[in-house]
This record gives sequence, structure tokens and C-alpha cells, in this order.
Amino acid sequence: PDPLEDYDLSRPLASGVGLRQGLTAYGDAHFSLFLRKAFIKAAGYGEDALTRPVIGIINTHSGFNPCHANVPQLIEAVKRGIQLNGGLPIEFPTISLHESFSSPTSMYLRNLMSMDTEEMIKAQPLDACIMIGGCDKTVPAQLMGGISANKPVLPLVTGPMMPGSYRGMRIGACTDCRNNWAAYRAGLMDIEDIAAINDELAPTSGTCGVMGTASTMACITAALGLMPLRGASAPAVSATRLRVAEETGKNAVSAVTDEHRPQQILTKESFLNAITVLQAIGGSTNAVVHLMAIINRHPAVAGTISLDTFDEIGKKTPLLVDLKPSGDNYMSDFHNAGGMIALLQALRPLLYLSARTITGQTLDELLDASGSHDFPYSHEIIRPLTNPLYPCSSIVVLHGNLAPGGAVMKASASKDRRLLNHSGPAIVFSDTADLARRIDDPELPVTKDTVLVLKGIGPIGHPGMPEAGLIPIPRKLGALGVEDMLRLSDGRMSGTAGGTIVLHISPESVIDNSVFGIVEDGDIIRCDVGNRVLQLDVAEEEIARRISAREKQKFNQSHAGKKRGYGGLYERSVNQAQHGVDFDFLTAVGPS
Ligand code: FES
Ligand code: MG
Repeated sequence: PDPLEDYDLSRPLASGVGLRQGLTAYGDAHFSLFLRKAFIKAAGYGEDALTRPVIGIINTHSGFNPCHANVPQLIEAVKRGIQLNGGLPIEFPTISLHESFSSPTSMYLRNLMSMDTEEMIKAQPLDACIMIGGCDKTVPAQLMGGISANKPVLPLVTGPMMPGSYRGMRIGACTDCRNNWAAYRAGLMDIEDIAAINDELAPTSGTCGVMGTASTMACITAALGLMPLRGASAPAVSATRLRVAEETGKNAVSAVTDEHRPQQILTKESFLNAITVLQAIGGSTNAVVHLMAIINRHPAVAGTISLDTFDEIGKKTPLLVDLKPSGDNYMSDFHNAGGMIALLQALRPLLYLSARTITGQTLDELLDASGSHDFPYSHEIIRPLTNPLYPCSSIVVLHGNLAPGGAVMKASASKDRRLLNHSGPAIVFSDTADLARRIDDPELPVTKDTVLVLKGIGPIGHPGMPEAGLIPIPRKLGALGVEDMLRLSDGRMSGTAGGTIVLHISPESVIDNSVFGIVEDGDIIRCDVGNRVLQLDVAEEEIARRISAREKQKFNQSHAGKKRGYGGLYERSVNQAQHGVDFDFLTAVGPS
């Protein structure tokens, strides 16, 4: 017998390449496989196991990430699904990011997580990979990295937490974190109440229980066809969540083919479907940034979708899902009303139904097989197209001299619709420290018509573009009952927040030629959402004069070239909001 038979690389396997992946990198491939088998046997695997397709499982469990606290149980269920279908599951760690424990911002680290994800999927001998994520930045990072790695990848989210209860009132992270804190700050609630609320805002493991960024990205991942439809909304602590995990394990074994690589499955139409879902759920504005980053990782789709695509789709897409912060309910209600199956069924006329999914079915076939005629169970939570919560354009894209690269607003979360067509004088805060110092100053010359402007929180200005765009209402106006004002920034806002708030203004204020960077107190700013205009009503010559005066100060990035470590890499490479705040060298087209 041939002494190399067991190490013969041409010997066909039932499916997958298994441990033989990547062996050709060195001279003696047979010896490499021999070594690899020797080492993996240290984990106790037998010969039979080692001939199976290898399904990697990305384990993002972390003591600093309670949104991922159920990952060990999910892994157990995933492994069962893989093994019952003839695969060999092997788990491995990557970075895990939680919103509250990632300084300076989780967004600053999203691209690092995407690099970790991409490189470990590429480096290790996997035939397919299940990516377990959940908290806001983890799912985008995994989709970005998974698409770039281009092995079959199957996202699995941890699922939303259950709502908590305070004196008979349902509460949940994080819309209710904000409104209750605002009430406490305004003196409307005492310390005992706010402490009792603190105990109940995040009462179980899982991701924030409203339509914030985590839930939005979960719905988008299902809409892209990469995850079982019930997987978007099944609560983190439910048995359904474990069954979705088991099903994902099964799907991974059958996805071990070239046609199931993400660059093959995902087309422009898949992403248009995802944007339609984003608009219909009143999803997080952060998803606009994440989706642009994800799209720009795909060589065949990058460049075919821009911010304007989001606006065009928005004009045709009504808001159907009544969840906080645009509406009143929680993710568990969405799930019980039929979740993504019911929503996609309602949206059917607006979707590209021939888009492919990870199971090999088209979206059309998947919906037919999902028993979708039974849904929705509640027309209150998931409205029909004929009776929407908001007629169209829950997220709008604005342009004008103040935002040549675009700006984004969640119009459906505006609390004072009068502000959707408003012009008023600016009060400018140069950064978050300036804001904190002056916003509650009784002398601040502010009225309800003032436009509050916060600079310095863009991708570079405050690395990671913090969610500081929800500028608080000055205390003296809050006391008069003012609940909303027109607010502008180059930063982001939590997907769980609301108000008339313009975000992601590009180019950001610290860029040399940024018009947003030269806005001064008293300048008149005009926001006309109907016509999608964001304009600084200052003469062109004056704008040019201010910009050249500022350029002389060498305001921009002069220090970034010298900065060490990840921070230096970030500042030298990060692109602007309309491109996804990705590193230029990670995009499908590479650095410009
Ligand atoms: Fe993790 Fe909200 S903090 S999803
Ligand atoms: Mg968030």
C-alpha cells in the first residue's frame, strides 16, 4: 500500500476539504497534513472525525459582554446540529465587543474585529464557519470579515433580551434607559425609583430588546438570506433560539460548497432587500453606516449602492413595525407577531424574491416554506402595507452645502414634526467637552428654535464616531416642556434613541474642507426634510474665507502619520460615514 495514502491530498472526501485546507502553502503538503493531524489529535479527535467537513464556530463569549452570555448554550446546540449532519465542529475565539465596555467607542474597534474575523476564517482549515455575534458592532464586523474571507459563513445572533418590569410598566434597554434617566435628571424621579429601574432595564442575557442597532442588524442579516428567518427575533433565553442554533449547524454542513460563499450568494438585490427591511422596521441609523461598510466589502456590489439608494428605497417603503424607539413595543412582541417571516410576507411586493439564501432556496421559496400564510398574528405590531405606522422614508438622506457627502436622519423618530422643515440660528459646540460644559448654562442664548450643532464627533474627530448625536435639550428649555429641537452632528446616535436629529454629516468637521467644520454661532441653518436639503445659509465667499483661514491652522490629521499602534492605523485609514467608516485598505477596491 502507498505509505502516503492517508495523507493523499487528492483522495475525495464525502464533502468539504476539511483539515487539508491551505496545506499547499508550504513545500511538503503531506508532511503538513501529518503534523496537523498529530496536533489536532491532541484534542481527542479520531480518524473518522478528521475526515469530516470542518465547521468553525466563532465563540464571542466574554465576561465583558452580557449580550453574549448565552453563547455557550448556543455553541452546544450548534454542535449538535453539525454532528447530527456529519460535520466536525471546532470552535475558536475572536474579539468580542460590548457597547458599554469598549473605550473610546465600540465603533473604533469594529474594524479590528472584522480583521480578526476575516483573517482567522482565512487562516484556519474550515469548510464553513458559523459566526456567533449579537451586540451592536459584532454582527457588522462579522459580516464585513466573512464577506472578505469569502468562505461559506453563517451568522447566528444571540437574540434579544426580554423586557423587564417596573411597577407594572414594561421597560427595556435602551430606549427606556434614556427616557428614565432624562426624567431623573429633570428631577421628576427620585434615587430609589431610578435604582429600581436600573435593576430591570436588562433583565436577561441577550441584546437590547428594542429596534436598536443589534435588532436592526439581526433583521438585516435574516433579510440578506444568511440566517433562519426566526433567528432575527427569537429571544436569547428561548428554546426557539436554541433550535435556531441547531438549524444553523445543520445549514452549515450543507453550505460546504463554492456556491454558498457569501460573494456568490449576496447580490445587489440582496442588499436592496436589506435596505427595504431597514426602512420598514424603522431601524437604527447606525445600520446605514454598517451596511455601506458591508456592501463595500463585496467586489461585485461595491460602488453600485450609495446613501442615495437608501433614500430612494425609503420613499417607496412604509414603516410597518411598531417597536421602540419609533413605536411602542419590544422585540419579543415582534417575535410573537411572526417576526421576519410575517414582515417579509407583508413586504413581498417590494422585495426581490429571486435573491438567494444560505439554504440554496430563493427568498420566495424560503417564504413559501415558512408557513407565512399564518402571519402576522398581530396587525398592531406588524402592520400591513395598507395601514403603515409612518407612510414612508423612516430614514432620510440629506444633502446640501453643509453635507456634500450626505447626512442621515431617522425622520420617523422625530418628536416634533414641525422641525422637519425648519430654519434657525446655530449654537455651536466644538466637541463633547464643550457641550458638557455649556449645555445647561442658564446664560446659554438658546430658544426652542435654535439649531444645536455638535462638531468633532466624526470618524476621525473623536475616533469611532461616538453615539453622542443625541444632544440633550438644555435644562432650562426642558423645564419649559421643550422635548425636541433640531440637532446636528458628524457623529452617530444610538439606535434606541429618538428626536429630530441630523447625523453622520460628511465630510466631518475635522476635515480641512469641511463646511460643517466652519459653522459659527448665529449662522442660519436650514433643514428641509421634504426636499432632502441641509443648507448653511451663509454666502459662498464667506464660507470660502473661513475654510482657507482654517486650513492655515493645519487643523487636520497632521499628527496621525506619527501616531503608533491601532490608533495610528485607524486615523490614517478610516473613511467617511457615507463609505461605512471602514479602513480604506479593507474595502473591495482597496486604498484610494
Ligand atoms: Fe449589546 Fe445593546 S448593549 S445590544
Ligand atoms: Mg446601541
